[in-house]
Amino acid sequence: MHFFIETFGCQMNKNDSLMMEASLLSSGFAPAENQNDADIVIFNTCSVRDSAERRAKGRLKEAMAQVRERKGIVVAAGCMAQRIPEFLINGKYCSIAIGTYQSPSIGKIIENFLNGDKRRVFDSFDENDYAGRISGTTESWHKWITITHGCENFCTYCIVPYVRGKLISASSGEILSSIKSAVDNGAIEITLLGQNVNQYGQDNGEIPFYRLLDESAKIKGIERINFLTSHPKDFDTNIIEVIKNNQNISRSVHLPLQSGSDNILKQMNRIYSFSDYMKIIDKIKELPDFSITTDLIVGFPGETNEDFEETIKAVRLVQYDEAFMYAYSPRESTPAASFKNHLDKKIKSERLKLLIETQREISALKLKARIGRTESVIIEGISRKNENEVYGKSFLAHPVITSGNSSDTGKLLNVKIDSVKGSALIGSRSL
Ligand code: SAM
Ligand code: SF4
Ligand code: F3S
Repeated sequence: MHFFIETFGCQMNKNDSLMMEASLLSSGFAPAENQNDADIVIFNTCSVRDSAERRAKGRLKEAMAQVRERKGIVVAAGCMAQRIPEFLINGKYCSIAIGTYQSPSIGKIIENFLNGDKRRVFDSFDENDYAGRISGTTESWHKWITITHGCENFCTYCIVPYVRGKLISASSGEILSSIKSAVDNGAIEITLLGQNVNQYGQDNGEIPFYRLLDESAKIKGIERINFLTSHPKDFDTNIIEVIKNNQNISRSVHLPLQSGSDNILKQMNRIYSFSDYMKIIDKIKELPDFSITTDLIVGFPGETNEDFEETIKAVRLVQYDEAFMYAYSPRESTPAASFKNHLDKKIKSERLKLLIETQREISALKLKARIGRTESVIIEGISRKNENEVYGKSFLAHPVITSGNSSDTGKLLNVKIDSVKGSALIGSRSL
């Protein structure tokens, strides 16, 4: 039988999908080219905002109608399957719901289901179900490694701690040996993942994150190592020293600010002030070359015009290369959902529009500043718009487009930047 996985949400989900793929392959299932050819259609879902859940529900219903004719099954996996499994089963959105801890065992679960097992909801939070699950199949040149699973920070707006459970750090031995074997198999780029990588080891007495980063970077054969996401409350400035000392660590730091207002940061339970945040930014800016990206939420309950202005000011001050900007979406059972003073949808979208416009100008200037430089770019694939062009990411994680073909995928190229088009740098290959 053939399976097809569609992934919503963050990089953690992307890596979970690769773990699902490995599990399905080892149970003897084969990948389908697309959803239309699959007997087992799997959606790895996200619950972070209402819009993400609505999109996934629409796709699930559509797939249920589609597979009925060919007697296939639809699986809801991931965060929404963890959050509302019974709702999804009872509402006929899927045949089985497999939550975040059990998704990596999906092969066995589906085998049992097809052999007549009546169980349809898999949502236990048993730590043993997740032990040792840090990576899945590898894009030959790139490997994702989940170094921490779960999150216990309980930012008041966020659903993640409820759907991903407590912080579980993998052992450093396992992470390092997984990196070594990926490199032996041809990987040149590694991405270390966690909701807050800076908390690595806090639960099990492992080495701190900056040491794990240092030891990972020292493994021979790695051209580039990335890490995300960092949390300002736990960001250890030793990380900057480690970056300085290892030429293969990406100079792109993703450091979510969420809001520029100390009042709102407090309501969000972020545990840092804007000036604490700026101390880290100033340290990052000591690097000879760097890029900084962030996440921002507008329209949090009680956000005044002045609070919002603080966010705009912060964006102007930091000069982010890129920002992921969202209107606050109330999530059931999170503290902020029951806060007073929820803002009108209209105010939230007006503020979001203004913020996006402000950041867009800064991003454009940041990209323009790269013209004339030669960037080292890892090629990720052929451009969708032109088959004679390839796309990839620079060392500062800027998207780059240059001439090439499929044989360039996974290669490190030097590209001289000639111009900017939209949010990408356009360049010519140089030796
Ligand atoms: N762990 C990371 C951190 O602490 O910043 C990111 C977690 S979350 C998966 C990704 C981003 O979604 C957050 O940084 C936040 O900006 C946004 N987000 C989370 N909950 C949200 C909500 N209820 N409404 C709008 N945006 C939200
Ligand atoms: Fe959500 Fe906060 Fe955890 Fe990030 S650190 S996943 S925003 S609770
Ligand atoms: Fe990620 Fe969405 Fe889950 S952002 S952790 S897939 S709720």
